[in-house]
Amino acid sequence: MDKFIVNGGNRLVGRICVSGAKNAAVAILPAVLLAESPCVIENVPDISDVHGILRALSGLGCTVTPLSRTSFEIDPRGANSYIVNKEMAKGMRASSYFLGALLGRTLRAKVAPPGGCAIGLRPIDQHIKGFEALGAKVTIESGMVVARAEKLMGGSVYLDMVSVGATVNIMIAAARAKGMTVIENAAREPHIVDLANFLNSMGADIMGAGTSVIKIRGVEHLHGTSYSIIPDQIEAGTYMVAAAATKGDVVISNVIPKHLESIIAKLKEAGVTVEEGDEFVRVTMDKRPGRCNVKTMPHPGFPTDMQPQFATLLAIADGTSIVTESVWESRFRYVEQLTFMGANIQVDGKSAIISGTERLKAAPVKADDLRAGAAMIIAGLVAEGQTEITDIEYIDRGYEQVVEKLTAVGADIKRVSDENLGYSLKAN
Ligand code: UD1
Repeated sequence: MDKFIVNGGNRLVGRICVSGAKNAAVAILPAVLLAESPCVIENVPDISDVHGILRALSGLGCTVTPLSRTSFEIDPRGANSYIVNKEMAKGMRASSYFLGALLGRTLRAKVAPPGGCAIGLRPIDQHIKGFEALGAKVTIESGMVVARAEKLMGGSVYLDMVSVGATVNIMIAAARAKGMTVIENAAREPHIVDLANFLNSMGADIMGAGTSVIKIRGVEHLHGTSYSIIPDQIEAGTYMVAAAATKGDVVISNVIPKHLESIIAKLKEAGVTVEEGDEFVRVTMDKRPGRCNVKTMPHPGFPTDMQPQFATLLAIADGTSIVTESVWESRFRYVEQLTFMGANIQVDGKSAIISGTERLKAAPVKADDLRAGAAMIIAGLVAEGQTEITDIEYIDRGYEQVVEKLTAVGADIKRVSDENLGYSLKAN
């Protein structure tokens, strides 16, 4: 098991280049199954969630050829299975996207229930509602989600809550259904727009992505394409907060500033200076952050996936802030870890009341999930002393080369494995 060792106290100064968006990649890659010829996908983040999807594609019979570390040619013509078993789906929330993709390709899919971060109940009732509106039958058989259809017909779906996953899955399945599908109360996240652009570049006919009503006119054939994935909004936001928390001066490049609006607004409210360029943002900070309240909301609101990182900034702010989580049921597990480092945070239901403290102190902490892990890194960067972070496999799910990127801007962070700890766990 690897861990991160972080020696806190260094200002981050320099430039960080953001990778391709995890949540776009894990939707676009399964959707390649709909194509009738090979696709080249570029700007694919080199993270374990993506490796899981690529392994699953190859397990289904696709030929996956790496062209570089971040671009792949995927030939779906050999895909001859419709089953994504537990081993293939392990730990990936996005494994559910194989339901929509296989249903669209072969009219049947058998997929192990999705895994992913433990941040609250993760039901898929809205995905199922969408598949049923297209004429599919969905059952649970021996612990697997099974979807089948004689044919897929366009239909109308009103989502009971804004769900990114349901919007993605319905868009993918509907791309080749006969007739028009309308998704109302659809998610508007940047990766929804990216998926629509990708599907349209394969010949799909999707309108309205980025608004709450998406219309998908099904087409009979989708062809291969070359497509480059958008930059990761949450990775960018994480480094912006890290720069602010360390009173640094960092240019974060390869970003779409429009996707960062809510994060920029909140950073400014906390007294951080953010300069926006065409494809970069520069974050500078020379004082202790000020207090501010944050409530997570579906896009264009403040992203839930930035909540733990931002709460860490507020933990060292001057004053008391309230952070309210309105997307996930339980997303404050990381708070306990921050309190080990001296943060003063009370959780009351869906809100955390954060009384800022001037400094955090190093402690052994763990990554409770992907974004909680990012928060631990930020806390370690500002804390006095040496912080040890365990369970970092969560962080590897979504941050490409996090040690390299942070080290390049002056952080003192390294990955150590058991062999490098100076002792052996094996008894002789
Ligand atoms: C996606 C993101 C995740 C992010 C989340 C919210 C990916 C791979 N993951 O997760 O990082 O935190 O969006 O922005 O893109 N819900 C139901 N029934 C459903 C579906 C969802 O009740 O059928 C509920 C969930 O329990 C949750 C809320 O709706 O409370 C939002 O979930 P959803 O947007 O679907 O999240 P994911 O797609 O799983």
